[in-house]
Amino acid sequence: MNPIRINLTLGLLWLLLGMLLGEHMGRTGDHGQMPTHAHIMLLGGVLSISWAVIYKVFEIPAGLLAWVQTGFHQVSTVVMITGLYMLYGHMAEEAVLGPVLGLSAIGAVVSVLLVLVQTLRTKV
Ligand code: HEM
Ligand code: HEM
Repeated sequence: MNPIRINLTLGLLWLLLGMLLGEHMGRTGDHGQMPTHAHIMLLGGVLSISWAVIYKVFEIPAGLLAWVQTGFHQVSTVVMITGLYMLYGHMAEEAVLGPVLGLSAIGAVVSVLLVLVQTLRTKV
């Protein structure tokens, strides 16, 4: 296992999960979870697969920064998706979910910054 494999595999699994939710929304006609679906597809799926491709194409080593970035991205995505699902499913108070979603957003931003730092070190 390395950051490329983890991001690629989890990214594809995020796509599958998001498509199942999209299919459920289409079938029931209830689009209440649209923000959850959008973030599963884009934050979970598209960005994770982008990280795998960036690491591969720019030959970024599987060092500490890559592992920390992968951890930040995947943990933030799990927390944000769970929080969004609960928020739009009215399963918990917004006052409780707000700070959790805020923390997950900070984690997602840190992950992007860590990719930026690593790509700036590479020759293009
Ligand atoms: C099995 C495949 C998919 C199904 C069944 C599906 C289903 C849906 C449904 C029912 C909506 C709500 C539309 C609305 O209420 O206006 C939606 C919105 C959305 N979907 Fe999907 N979707 C699928 C694949 C994808 C993929 C591959 C992506 C991106 C990689 C994606 C990204 C989005 C986004 C960003 C929105 C929100 C659009 C907006 O803000 O208006 N979906 N999808
Ligand atoms: C720091 C992380 C992020 C935060 C805090 C955030 C926050 C939000 C919020 C508050 C909305 C409005 C939801 C609503 O309509 O009620 C939204 C919608 C949306 N976001 Fe994000 N987002 C983040 C990351 C991303 C990323 C990385 C992408 C794409 C790569 C993305 C794509 C979208 C799209 C397509 C919509 C429209 C979907 C809809 O209308 O439901 N977001 N986001």
